[in-house]
Formats: sequence, C-alpha cells, structure tokens
Amino acid sequence: MAAYKRVSESVALITLQNPPVNALSAAVRQGIVDTVERALSDPNVTAVVICGQNGVFCGGADIKEFGSNMSGPPLIPMIHAIESANKPVVAAIEGSALGGGLELALGCHYRIAHSKARLGLPEVSLGLLPAAGGSQRLPRLIGVPAALNLITTGRHVTAAEALQLGIVDQVTDHNTVDAAVKFALSVAGRSLDPRRISTYPCPQQPDLDALFEEVMQKVRRSARGAIAPIACVQAVRAAATLPYTQGMAREQELMATLFTSGQARALQYCFFAQRAVGRWRMPSGARWDTSKPRPVHKAAVIGLGTMGRGITVALAQTGLSVIAVETQEKQLMEAKQAVSGMLERGAKRRGVAPALDRIIYSQNIQAVADVDLVIEAVFEDVALKTKVFKQLSAVCKPGTLLCTNTSALDVDQLASETPNPELVVGMHFFAPAHVMKLLEVVYGPRSSPEAVATAMQLGKKMGKASVAVGNCRGFVGNRMLKPYVEQAFFLLEEGATPELVDRALEEFGFPMGVFTMSDLSGLDVGWRVRKGDGLVEPGGASGRSARVRQGRRYSPLGDLLCEHGRFGQKTCRGWYQYDKPGSRVARSDPWLHSFLEAYRAEHGLVARRIDHQEVLERCLYALINEGFHILDDGIAAGPEDIDVIYVSGYGWPRHRGGPMFYANMVGLAKVLERLEHYHQAHPDVPHLQPCSLLRRLVASGSPPIHRWGEVIKKLHSQL
Ligand code: NAI
Repeated sequence: MAAYKRVSESVALITLQNPPVNALSAAVRQGIVDTVERALSDPNVTAVVICGQNGVFCGGADIKEFGSNMSGPPLIPMIHAIESANKPVVAAIEGSALGGGLELALGCHYRIAHSKARLGLPEVSLGLLPAAGGSQRLPRLIGVPAALNLITTGRHVTAAEALQLGIVDQVTDHNTVDAAVKFALSVAGRSLDPRRISTYPCPQQPDLDALFEEVMQKVRRSARGAIAPIACVQAVRAAATLPYTQGMAREQELMATLFTSGQARALQYCFFAQRAVGRWRMPSGARWDTSKPRPVHKAAVIGLGTMGRGITVALAQTGLSVIAVETQEKQLMEAKQAVSGMLERGAKRRGVAPALDRIIYSQNIQAVADVDLVIEAVFEDVALKTKVFKQLSAVCKPGTLLCTNTSALDVDQLASETPNPELVVGMHFFAPAHVMKLLEVVYGPRSSPEAVATAMQLGKKMGKASVAVGNCRGFVGNRMLKPYVEQAFFLLEEGATPELVDRALEEFGFPMGVFTMSDLSGLDVGWRVRKGDGLVEPGGASGRSARVRQGRRYSPLGDLLCEHGRFGQKTCRGWYQYDKPGSRVARSDPWLHSFLEAYRAEHGLVARRIDHQEVLERCLYALINEGFHILDDGIAAGPEDIDVIYVSGYGWPRHRGGPMFYANMVGLAKVLERLEHYHQAHPDVPHLQPCSLLRRLVASGSPPIHRWGEVIKKLHSQL
C-alpha cells in the first residue's frame, strides 16, 4: 500500500506502508504507480516526496514473492515512470533504503537522507544483482570503482558515506520528511533533465579494462564459486560500456541466469534459515515464544585462556559488566593485556569508546557472587569443570545461570553435579569467540526453557547466529565433522594426498580444506581426545589389524604425525610445512609424501587414483549422513539448525545452503545410493552406512527440505 496526502499545499506526499520494512510487495508497487499518477495529473501539485512509514524508507523487494509468479506492476517501468516525471520527485530516506528501496530512490530526482539512515544494494548476498536498474544507475551516479565496491559486496553505507559518494544530495539530523518537502518546494519548476540518472554517461575511467580485470580476479577469489558477485561485475561493466537501454537488457539477462540458479535458492534458504533458528523448540515442547528469558546485566567468565578472553570481549562489547576470573597470575596479566587490545581495536573499527571499564579482573571465584550468568571456560577436564561448577553453585546468588563452553564434555553430567541442574546449559563458542558468528546453545534433559531462552537471547545480543541443540558428544557441529575428517584420513591411506583432498574441498567452496584446517587448529587437539578415548596405540604395529580400533576402521595417521612432533602451523610442520610458526602459507612437504608411501607399504595398502568427485562424495556425504542421525535423534530440531551451524561456523559455502540443503539439492536418492556404494566398498566404516532416516525419507518420496520436519514427525509417530 502507499498513502497519498497533500502537504504544504502543492507537495504530494506518498508514504509506503508495508510493515516492518515497507518491502516492495505487489500491493506497494501498485500503490506507488497509482499515487504517482495521481500526483502527476493533479495541476495543483508541483512536487512529489516519497517516504516510508514508521521511520523506514524501504527494505527492498518482498523476498516472500521470490519464486512465486510475480503479480502487480513490475519495478522497472515503475521506477522509469518516476524518473521520467515532469515534476520533481524527492526520496525522503529514513531508516534504510536497501536493494529495490535504493533502486527506487535512484529513480527519484533527489535524495535526502536522515543522518542515521543506511543505504545499500545487498542483492548479492541473496545470490542476485540489483536488477531494477540499480546496476546501471549507481555507476552512472557515483562512478565505476565505488559502484563495483557496493554492488559486489552488498555492504551498507551510512548516510555520511552516501553523501560523500554522491548517492544522496543532503543529510539531515531533523525530520527527514519535512526537510524533503521543503527541498521539493525549492526545486519545483527547475529543469529535471540534469537529474535523470539513466541519461548520464558513466564517469570516464582511465584503463577501464585493467580495472575490470583486477576487480574480476579479486571477486573470483573471494566468491569461492559463488556466481552472483561475478554477474554483478559483468552488469557494472555493461553500465560502463553500453548505452543505458542495452545495459538494462544485459542486467535482465544476467538476472535471469541468477534467478533460476540453485545458488540463489540456497542463499535465500540461508536467509530464512537464520530467522528460523531463532524460533527454537525443545523435544519437551518448550519453545521460543512461550519461554521468557531472564535479564542479564552482569556476567562472569571463568578461565581466561584462548576462549575465555574472546568471550569476555564479546560480553563487554554487548554492554554487560563482566567479572573475569583466572587463577594463574601470569595468565591473568596476559589476558588483561590481550582483552584490552582486542577491545581497543574493535572500538577503533566501530568508532566507539572501548569498553575497558566494564571488566573487573579477579583471581578469586568469590568475586562472581552477584552475577546473573556465568560462562565457564577452564581446561577441558571433567574433574576440574565439576569442581568449578560446585564452587559456582555455592558462591553465586540463587538463580544464576551456569553455562559451560565445553566442546565435548557431557553438559548433563556437569549439570547433575549442581543442586540446580535446570540452571545449566552449554554455550559453545568458536575461536576466536569475539569474531566467530556461531554459538551452539546446548540444553540437557533438565535445562529449563528459561535458561535456554536466556542463553539464546544473550547470543543474539552478541550478534551471534545462536542455535539451540541437544546434548550429545560433539553437539551438532563437531559431531558431523568427525566422519568428514575420518574420510579424509582414509583417502590418504588409499592413495590421495593432503593437497588433492584440500583442493577438491576448496573448489567446492570451503575457505580451507580439511588438512589445512587441521594444521591451523593443531593436530595435538584431536590426538589428546583420541588418547582420552583409548584409540591411540603406540606406533610400530602394522598390517590391517593396526588400522582397526574398537571394531571399526581407524587411521592412525594423525597420531603418527603427532609422534613425530608435527602439530601443524605452530610447529611449522603438520600435513604441510610452514616457514615460521603460525605462518598461513602452507607448502607441500616431500617428507609427508614419502611418509605416506612408507606407511602404505608397511600396511600393505596399494595406492589408487582418487578423483575430486570421490573426495567430495565421501567427505561430504559422510558428514551429511551424520546430519540425518542428528535429526533422527532430535539433537537438532530441523535441517535449518544444522545448516546455519555449518554455514556460520564451519566454512560451508553459503551459496550451497548448508549440508542438509545440499543433500536436498543433490537429491536424497542419489546421496543414499552413493553412501550405499561406499559402504559396500568399506563395510568396516560405520559412518558410511546410510542412516535409517535418510532411507525412510527416500522411501517417502524424497520430500523437499521444507517438508522434512513434518515427515520426520510422522515417521517417528509410526515407530
Ligand atoms: P586454555 O587452556 O587456553 O585456557 C583455560 C584457562 O583456564 C587457563 O588460562 C587456565 O589457567 C584457566 N583455569 C584453569 N582452572 C581454572 C579455575 N579453576 N579457575 C579459573 N581459571 C582456571 O583453554 P581454551 O582453549 O580457552 O578452552 C577452554 C574451554 O573451551 C575448554 O572446555 C575447551 O574445550 C573449550 N573450547 C575451546 C575451543 C578452542 O578452539 N580452543 C573452541 C570451543 C570450546
């Protein structure tokens, strides 16, 4: 809808009305067409102002309409009609002008923005490009380099930056609509020819070819297989080299390719999945909308190692008071310095004051007596954590929530050591905790809905993609990672190299392959866990039996590397070699290749040729198979939860939607068939045995992913 009103006698004020962000739905577009026509045909109107209700100009296209048959007037002719109008049309931009909203504003003759407004063309993040003339008008208005930057990244700019770039004509701290009406009156009657952006030539740019070549290379590198950023460059190139109408034709042609691509579907799925995970629910029936979070003003962090420091920073940046406790004096001093440095750098980037005075450091756990919530991040040692939880239960005021950042221990067991297990949840952050977007909120069977709601709300405040998951070994993310890494090890035994495996995964879109990742996080971490699980045996044994542990196939390769002191980047040697500790440049290591050959010979393994397809199928389908187990066990409430975890925390390429969405795209029957094939070839690898839920979904006709939830429910009720 769009409301029409006459103000200051001769100005037509058109207000977009579609809460919450005045998205350009069919009704809104129809409203704009009708009200603009009315304004233009009314002889008493000399100028037009377009604004949005409730302090938001327009958030862009209505994503809900994507994929359905578009009804109502199309955007392009609507914007063109505004630009061709013979009365000045001024956009009054409050809140945000994003995507189609900014394209609409670019069709207006003038743009006035409130100082707090944000503008941008974020279509690329949904696998699309600004295809209502945005890719053709913006370069004509602000030049090719700036337009390329905005369109290929989708970043939002502040009103101040928009003014500096020339996107808006004026910024006001006062009432934007009043300022726009006043401005409209002042320009009424002036020639509008110089204000129609589509008629502008694109600003001249020396060495255009070189510029596009350079940008294209950069975009290809960072896109990791996503096609939308590349199409955005091509569209801007059309603006720079073709007349407007031909550029528009190219924009439409590129958009048509993107629109029907699986990538746009995957990215839009991610957009909705991120919202869906906020609507969490537990097997007990507790849900987000019936569980009230408690207010958290003051929090404590126990243990200021790698994780505790990042968590302290994340909490302080959210505006909470933090008590940071560390028993080791040296660690405490180092932590203080590190935390202050992180806060100062973060504040500088965001142009705010660092929150240094929000943190009180202490060596004494008694200091946490009056906090609302504690996050424990001491060593991964069950006896130590149990002791800390007992101390916390004694020290903290009644009702304080006790959260653990454990990555593998049993949250329920820790809870059972406290007098109030309902107050215990896991808050599983990822390193570095103030940067990484993902947070798994782990509930046990006794965690209260209120505790889960509080942890979820705190995660949201910290800007995390927070996902509520059940309690099991590795929770969701690490549990699925295990079969993935295991397959990579097996592939090495069978003839692959770390380089081959990593290249296949990086070409798929991961920022780094499994072996580069393992070198970065340290091979010793997994070694310690495997030792704890009784899997590691002293080296020297050979033959098939040396590669079977606890009745299943096992690869001791990682353990052997650790025995050689190869812990990854930190020791300059791992699956690759590095010039200095911590170096990110992984170089092939001939030692490793000879080691693999000797290993295979010793174990009677004959190397065979392994191609990228096998790497992808074995690593990814094993991981996906575990995802089905997780759904079947009710550890994740739906496939969206798993996909958000993988996209936000494990580098799964967003344009492939997450592992479960990917399985849906590939086809469940195909995933099942390949798993069956590989399980037949490797019967001693239980992770390759297809999950019964996958079989049942295929038997139910492979329903699309948005219907899995109801099908799983039905299948479970039949058991
Ligand atoms: P860390 O070894 O870097 O730090 C642990 C800190 O706790 C040390 O500074 C130690 O002095 C301190 N500490 C030990 N006992 C204490 C006590 N009673 N009171 C106060 N402080 C005490 O360990 P990191 O890597 O930070 O891990 C902490 C927890 O987070 C572990 O449970 C780990 O599994 C988990 N985690 C670690 C991740 C990582 O990437 N490092 C990722 C996600 C979770």
